Amino acid sequence: MEDTVNCHANGDAVQGTVVSSWNEWDPLKHVIVGRATGSHIPPPEPALDAKVPEDSDMRGMWGQRTQDSIDRGNELLDRFSAQLEQRGIKVDRPIPIDFSQPITTPDFHTDAQFGCMPPRDVLLTVGNEIVEATMSYRCRWFEYLCYRPLLQRYWEEDPNFRHEAAPKPRLTDADYRPDYLDVRISVQQRLEWTSQKYFVTTEHEPLFDAADVLRLGRDLVVQHGFTTNLKGIEWLRRHFPDHRVHAVNFPGDPYPIHIDATFTPLRPGLLLNNPQRRLPDEQRQMFEDSDWQILDAAQPAHNSPPPLCYSSTWLSMNVLVLDPKTVCVEKTEVYQADQIDKLGFEVVEVELRDAYAFGGGLHCSTADVYREGHCEDYFPHLEDC
Ligand code: GLY
Repeated sequence: MEDTVNCHANGDAVQGTVVSSWNEWDPLKHVIVGRATGSHIPPPEPALDAKVPEDSDMRGMWGQRTQDSIDRGNELLDRFSAQLEQRGIKVDRPIPIDFSQPITTPDFHTDAQFGCMPPRDVLLTVGNEIVEATMSYRCRWFEYLCYRPLLQRYWEEDPNFRHEAAPKPRLTDADYRPDYLDVRISVQQRLEWTSQKYFVTTEHEPLFDAADVLRLGRDLVVQHGFTTNLKGIEWLRRHFPDHRVHAVNFPGDPYPIHIDATFTPLRPGLLLNNPQRRLPDEQRQMFEDSDWQILDAAQPAHNSPPPLCYSSTWLSMNVLVLDPKTVCVEKTEVYQADQIDKLGFEVVEVELRDAYAFGGGLHCSTADVYREGHCEDYFPHLEDC
């Protein structure tokens, strides 16, 4: 099933920093873990408002999160980092900027920023390259600055590291559909729109968040939704000419942002799919033709997300794979842990639920720097790009 292809593969020896990661499951050796410090609930803006349900406790409020919640988030993220380090994984942390600073560009203004908890949203590692995503929220326009000290160091230490930044978007009102500004949109209406691929972001300019991309060796699977538009996917296709880039949709998701609480690879040939957001039949074909198994993920253990959280209860399946036999699962997500255990993996319990509100679960809160392995073709029946 696996053919090694020549995609600028690096060797396996890590001296100083080596940037290389081709997929979501090879043995993890170096990772970035986010921080909760200074995190804000940002002021209203078009793309963010479309993600917040009408009955959410976050509607109508913004400003820095409470210091108690930030301290608790940092406590859990620090402990998660220590757990990874105990397993021999090198961990780096971002340097937060002052997220209370407003942003004014020639095209937009926002009164505050977001945070640096989900590095997965901002940084896309493909082989020896880390790309800073365009992002599609105004409040996240400068978030890459929190990672620049790390990226500059990697650039000094690894002569093969390619540090790239996707074109900064202008994020004028032309990027957002005004229909989504109505706060009373029903979930039924949202489901109709998302099934028609009528998302809050328009096709005015390329937009993508890195967390909409799954890396499966030579194939990149990218969710088209609120945070990534078709032009963003086309930008990725042109930027990675040696890869095959596939746009996917999950019509059962009324708030389609970020693929990693919806479609989760565990090892080559095995994926979990959110049973409320099934991959459409025509998009399953590439997996079935290469004998990949797509299993329904277990139900979340919780009926609702924690307070002031953007994400759904499906952060249960936002797991971090440490190697093809070992998976980190959030400690309270007992059904997900049980399913992964029964599939033959070692389950590593990590307590993180009180940090979900800062932007996600175990996969979201990390970004790969180095995984062993090379760029392989897991879908050899597909045509060359
Ligand atoms: N897209 C992340 C979630 O399910 O909340």
